[in-house]
Amino acid sequence: MSDSAESPAAPKVPAAPKGVQTKVRIAHLHQMKAAGRPIVMVTAYDACFGALADEAGVDLILVGDSAGMVVHGYDTTLPVTVEMIEMHVAAVARGARRALIVADMPFMSYQVTPEEAVRNAGRFLKAGAQAVKIEGHGPRIRETVRALSSIGIPVIGHIGLVPQSVHALSGYRIQGKTDEEAERLMTMARLQQEAGLSAIVLECIPHDLARRITAEVAIPTIGIGAGPHCDGQVLVMHDLLGLTEHPPSFARKYLDLRAGTLRAFRKYARDVRERSFPEE
Ligand code: KIV
Repeated sequence: MSDSAESPAAPKVPAAPKGVQTKVRIAHLHQMKAAGRPIVMVTAYDACFGALADEAGVDLILVGDSAGMVVHGYDTTLPVTVEMIEMHVAAVARGARRALIVADMPFMSYQVTPEEAVRNAGRFLKAGAQAVKIEGHGPRIRETVRALSSIGIPVIGHIGLVPQSVHALSGYRIQGKTDEEAERLMTMARLQQEAGLSAIVLECIPHDLARRITAEVAIPTIGIGAGPHCDGQVLVMHDLLGLTEHPPSFARKYLDLRAGTLRAFRKYARDVRERSFPEE
């Protein structure tokens, strides 16, 4: 476990009036890639943790459909609905001021038609997000990226291990291991960029492939389980805070909140039972 929760200073963005924090914008992410400054993204699902991530200087907060698993207790992200993400986005937006908020579009909210994707993405922007993320690749996804970006909705892509396709992928496993798969992912990243993507998440692909995609595309790459060569990194909040019982091997635990929370709940229960809380 890392012994320090201190983060280095937040990246510089264009000057704002004194006392006003500059909101992170898509353009800043592109400047950061150009300047070689790592982009920091973390998930959050409520106002409390949204505010804490924001105060810590995180650049992007992803209101991930991982909420389905880490908050709502489902086995996969598939049961997550538009209403759930809308509610989590609104809560995070009430807590975060500076970070750019990304709404993760849930399963079946963008796959059927680009029109439906636009309507649902609009709901997330109205709830307080400044960008949306969609998983997958291929011509249908590119059409959706085009439809969203053409009306001014920034879109972040997500390729490699795409959890909404867990059944088609036969489980959560590393992607892009063969030369053929790697070439396909490279091509898809390039074509999605041409369709209008603002950035792209690379999940669980070989480090060298992530390095090659990062060098090839002009948009920022944000890795998760994809090694150190991406333009930025994202982690699920519960993994980095040590709340997940079985975190993925690539995650780093910066705090043992699970053990601390268990200790606190047990002590509280004991105090109540022993009548030492509340005090006279
Ligand atoms: O939903 C999520 O948290 C994500 C990250 C794992 C990138 O998509």
